[in-house]
Amino acid sequence: MARFETQVGIIGAGPAGLMLSHLLHLNGIGSIVLEARSRAHCEERVRAGVLEHTSVEMLRETGVAVRLDRLGLRHEGIELGLDGVRHRIPFVELTGKHVTVYGQQEVVKDLIARRLADAGDLRFECGDVSLHEIEGDKPWIRVEKGGVVDQIFCDYVAGCDGFHGISRTSIPEGALTIYECAYPFAWLGILAEAAPSRDELLYVHHARGFALYSMRSPLITRLYLQCRPDEDIASWSDDRIWSELQIRLACSDGWHPAEGKIVQKGVTGMRSFVVEPLQYGRLYLAGDAAHIVPPTGAKGMNLAFADVYYLARALDAWYRSTDGALLQAYSQTCLRRIWKAQRFSAWMTSLLHNFECGSAFDRRRQRAELEYVTSSRAASTCLAENYVGLPLN
Ligand code: FAD
Ligand code: PHB
Repeated sequence: MARFETQVGIIGAGPAGLMLSHLLHLNGIGSIVLEARSRAHCEERVRAGVLEHTSVEMLRETGVAVRLDRLGLRHEGIELGLDGVRHRIPFVELTGKHVTVYGQQEVVKDLIARRLADAGDLRFECGDVSLHEIEGDKPWIRVEKGGVVDQIFCDYVAGCDGFHGISRTSIPEGALTIYECAYPFAWLGILAEAAPSRDELLYVHHARGFALYSMRSPLITRLYLQCRPDEDIASWSDDRIWSELQIRLACSDGWHPAEGKIVQKGVTGMRSFVVEPLQYGRLYLAGDAAHIVPPTGAKGMNLAFADVYYLARALDAWYRSTDGALLQAYSQTCLRRIWKAQRFSAWMTSLLHNFECGSAFDRRRQRAELEYVTSSRAASTCLAENYVGLPLN
């Protein structure tokens, strides 16, 4: 058994774990990142695409935005579709801010490259990661890699291992309260080799179900369809997917999405989930390990960045001047922002999806809300302010 020591042991090399390791390094704090999957898997996993302006600033201010600045797409608004008519929500006009479309896997690639260039200790393909003595002042992590067992002793452990990781479940059940809500639908998402035929994202409310037109680059579009949570992807041929997208996204001015080869498809479940508090002993949870939002508000990766921003700042205060106030406040600080993002994501989801279980009253109320949001400057500003991202401080 080999023994290692580090200041912060980080579980998971997703956006949260990698950004935390990077921020700590910039403050002279050492970390080891332990990731279950291979580097290639982490760099190829297609997930989020929209970065709030605060996330872009964080990447830029910490020197990892060279590719983002070259390849990221600046989006100054989104469109909401209702009855075949598009209504624009002009972010810049309403808030002075914009969002950037840049794939999560590109962010992950940039952060991995930077950590390795800075001689960071990233360990991929770790098996059987487990946490020990997190209640004491020297927690340790047990990891198996290539048939060898390692013990990593740390001052703190950051659980950045996503919703299905081991960090949250290492906390005794009674110490956490879970708040959650499941939705009676999922998203079928595709990535297509088709040049975007619109400049901005289009979120459509349709009697057959919600649809979203998004993109990744000048050559690749990303589209989603509301489907059943138990939808069998095998029953969706490429032709069926395109014809359903054409029906839901079609606009009365004749616009419809350009088709192309589908290079990736999958079904994503929808849930809202928060665990409180985000800390137990010397274990701090961040990102999807602590909360999940339905993707309609495009908040998941951005919330993960916000959590690790607060955690890095708190650890810096601790190592710099043994001031533990920010560490103590970590959970509460994050939760204030998390619940605002939960509110917004749940609201966007209820605004745009087709709730088959809803009553005729619910459907009329939903339509009135859509008409209000698309016609009132005050309501559009409220959407825009939340979509571009609330301030970190
Ligand atoms: P993850 O990205 O899940 O990373 C966790 C890492 O931990 C993974 O690499 C995993 O392999 C590793 N791990 C797990 N278990 C272990 C273990 N036992 N030991 C070691 N390592 C482990 N968010 C947005 O902001 N904008 C969007 O537009 C958006 N769209 C989305 C669309 C889809 C289809 C999906 C699925 C998600 C979307 N999200 C979006 C959400 C976003 O992708 C997540 O919120 C984000 O990945 C969270 O980052 P994370 O680092 O917390 O977790
Ligand atoms: C995406 O491009 O993957 C995307 C965009 C906006 C969302 C969710 C996902 O709300």
